[in-house]
Amino acid sequence: MLLPEFPWDTLAGAKARAALHPGGLIDLSVGSPVDPTPALIQAALREATDAHAYPTNHGTAEARAAIAEWFARMRGVPGIGDEHLLVTIGSKELVAGLPLQLGLGAGDVVVHPSVAYPTYDIGARIAGAEPVRADDPDDWPEATRLVWLNSPSNPTGEVLGVDALRRVVQAARERGILVASDECYALLPWELDEAPSILDPRVTDGDLTGLVAVYSLSKQSNLAGYRAAFIAGDPQVVQRALAVRKHLGLMAPSPVQHALAVALGDEAHVAEQRERYRSRRALLLPAMREHGFDVSSDAGLYLWATDGTDALVQLDALSRLGILVAPGSFYGDRTRVRVALTASDAHIAEAAARLRG
Ligand SMILES: Cc1ncc(COP(=O)(O)O)c(C=O)c1O
Repeated sequence: MLLPEFPWDTLAGAKARAALHPGGLIDLSVGSPVDPTPALIQAALREATDAHAYPTNHGTAEARAAIAEWFARMRGVPGIGDEHLLVTIGSKELVAGLPLQLGLGAGDVVVHPSVAYPTYDIGARIAGAEPVRADDPDDWPEATRLVWLNSPSNPTGEVLGVDALRRVVQAARERGILVASDECYALLPWELDEAPSILDPRVTDGDLTGLVAVYSLSKQSNLAGYRAAFIAGDPQVVQRALAVRKHLGLMAPSPVQHALAVALGDEAHVAEQRERYRSRRALLLPAMREHGFDVSSDAGLYLWATDGTDALVQLDALSRLGILVAPGSFYGDRTRVRVALTASDAHIAEAAARLRG
């Protein structure tokens, strides 16, 4: 199996150049949270350190109940039960592993957004399937078995509304194609009221067949180091993945599952974190525009920007200001750069000041 070089490993040169800036490096190239894990979640983890028994692959009863309750309360998706969901070890392993766990392989196509988080492509390759970039159901190849959506998108911030999701679901149902929707930025909408779930009854008409949603607590709860996420939707799909995951030993640690359950039950820390990102975005976005960038950022943790030159030229120019970003080529677009809002207030303010010169 031929896998590409890990994209961020190729940034060493730009990072070294940025680090030469007299004010120091400001790393906006990855979406890794910088704010503390909220105290109530840290306390929950501590409460659960007696973890002598194996956790189930499915997830603890406490975590499963919390996920079902969260879907109903926060995502407008009632009726999620034990058979509809499983807990994962962060969401990246699930994104990378789902095609293989569902038995996809040679001759099958996995479609993902034309500009996308690279792991959808990697997951198809690991299974021996063919990854294809497409945004319109009319462009899905004949052999398509799985379509990934990512709304809000990393990196573009684009959100698919109810009508757009319905169109995807209808096209997929007509052809018996599974739709997996990666929704980890759903609670960070900026220019819109909401980012609906693929499981929303306005999208599904109450029928979850062929549909799964993936959600992660990494960003909403500053829990990236805990590895806490889940998948929910069509019971047949979830149970097929679970059967394989049992053999693979893919179990989320039980202390983490307790922390996940406590985190899902608390809306206050999510709102607090959202406001931190809102104020960072309010500082950085206008500074990027004043510097000459066109910026998209409807939702999520990134500014998707271009000054009209090649992505590598923009990467180089920004690194000379000591600001490291991710070139759009990591995601399939050589004309833009991705600028993460996951830096301290001081670093975001300093980046904005450098951009204003
Ligand atoms: C779109 C998307 N999906 C999944 C992930 C994986 O997140 P985690 O493995 O921390 O749940 C990320 C992380 O940046 C992401 O941007």
